[in-house]
Amino acid sequence: MEITLSNAPPETLKTGVLVLGAFAEGLLEPEAQLMDDAAGGMLSAAIKRGDLGEKAGSILLFPGPAGAAAERLLLVSFGKSADLGDTAFRQALTATAKALADGAAKNAVVTLANIDLPGRPLAWRVQQASRLLGDGAYKFDAPSVKKQPERGVRAVTLTLTTEAKAELQTAVAQGLAIAEGIALTKDLGNLGGNVCNPAYMAQTAQELGKELGFEVEVLEREDMARLGMGSALSVGRASYSPCKFIVMKYCGGGTARPIVLVGKGMTFDTGGISLKPGAGMDEMKYDMCGGGTVIGTFKTVARLGLPINLVGLVMAVENMPGGNASRPGDVVRSMSGITIEILNTDAEGRLVLCDALTYAERFDPACVIDIATLTGACVIALGAHASGLFANDDPLAAELLAAGMSSGDRAWQMPVWDDYRSQLESNFADISNLGGPAAGSITAALFLSQFAKKYKWAHLDIAGTSSVSGEAKGATGRPVPLLAEFLLDRAAAAAGRGWQSPAVNENDGAR
Ligand code: BES
Ligand code: MN
Ligand code: ZN
Repeated sequence: MEITLSNAPPETLKTGVLVLGAFAEGLLEPEAQLMDDAAGGMLSAAIKRGDLGEKAGSILLFPGPAGAAAERLLLVSFGKSADLGDTAFRQALTATAKALADGAAKNAVVTLANIDLPGRPLAWRVQQASRLLGDGAYKFDAPSVKKQPERGVRAVTLTLTTEAKAELQTAVAQGLAIAEGIALTKDLGNLGGNVCNPAYMAQTAQELGKELGFEVEVLEREDMARLGMGSALSVGRASYSPCKFIVMKYCGGGTARPIVLVGKGMTFDTGGISLKPGAGMDEMKYDMCGGGTVIGTFKTVARLGLPINLVGLVMAVENMPGGNASRPGDVVRSMSGITIEILNTDAEGRLVLCDALTYAERFDPACVIDIATLTGACVIALGAHASGLFANDDPLAAELLAAGMSSGDRAWQMPVWDDYRSQLESNFADISNLGGPAAGSITAALFLSQFAKKYKWAHLDIAGTSSVSGEAKGATGRPVPLLAEFLLDRAAAAAGRGWQSPAVNENDGAR
């Protein structure tokens, strides 16, 4: 997707479709009002007839009126004016993106970023609009399926009522770079486990590093054994695809301490010997979405050349049953020295993450954030709307919650109190990997926290948010928007401390 800014009057721009905003009560945005006047009240009459739904995100397509520069007009509702807020804005932009992606027009003029949104400055609206329009153009190209003929808008002009200042160009670049990171995360998630195996994730990271100029190292089984990662290695034992520990290093922040992102990259989770039930097991191909998020976020950050140091650690592993698999009752020794009794081989995410968390210590991190499709219990608690957030540091948690609110990719904090520790006790090791049915996502986070005592740490349980089931089955690319916003905020703080912004990298590969 290509997005340009213009302060030309939108009605003068020749385009496939001109997108205009309205409210449920019939109130038109200024650009829409102008067009309505020129077209003899066509738009307002349609609203009066009830042709435009009341809800934010309702749309109505018109042929361009005689003499207009646009071939079509797309009227988009922001809902009731009294309810206008972030959600309505996003719904309007998301619906626009969908209509543009499915429609016949090849280019569009979008006026919606001009809306006066309480508390949200123009740069925020432009960044959000760019991200949502870019993300809305995402299409998964399944490797084995014949390519569909290209349809949909490839180029958008966002019109502004003010001059397109450098700050706004940056907002467009940010929005598109986030959409690119989301697209990569979705691609990795949507691929089957036979294609997106540990080696494929490692190769994707390596190619990305080469393309965008950051370092990628892939540790093999033997390297992990040398490090003493007995816990992580126990999970991948029975797979024919050997596990890979992917270490990515992006250095844009001079001597600053790095932020470390740790991703669960379970390329398929059968449950192992504690085999999962068959129904819906295909969705366990999404169990690498934490790792996919780390790789996608690296794409965003490296594309923008942010002034931060970032380390990405992805445990890419496949959890299979087999003659060589771990059994319930096995005791393994983690890299930290803590011994673990495996009571359920399906609680494998914490077994791979704990060793990555120990490995993270060597970077003297400013903070460590792990991202994992960790527990079904988190889906029960929060559903598909919020990721579970756990942390041993309240300011870090607050920063992540705020990044979630601003990006619309929200998280909700849950406790990691020691009160739950007794649920993880074992007669045969320092800790067990199973906390029982009560508070499953909390005991999982508490398990991880035992390995994250040496730094500020947060954990995002994305089991409910990283993919959707049903008709729209697919990866969502979450929480790339949240993490990107968090890192942009950190970058802005670094810039405030005297860092000079380089020219934003050219956005050549944008979708
Ligand atoms: N990958 C699953 C968690 C999951 C469940 C993600 C549903 C997405 C949707 C994880 O490895 C798992 O199996 N967790 C178990 C833990 C239990 C055995 C303690 C679970 O949640 O049932
Ligand atoms: Mn599992
Ligand atoms: Zn899993």
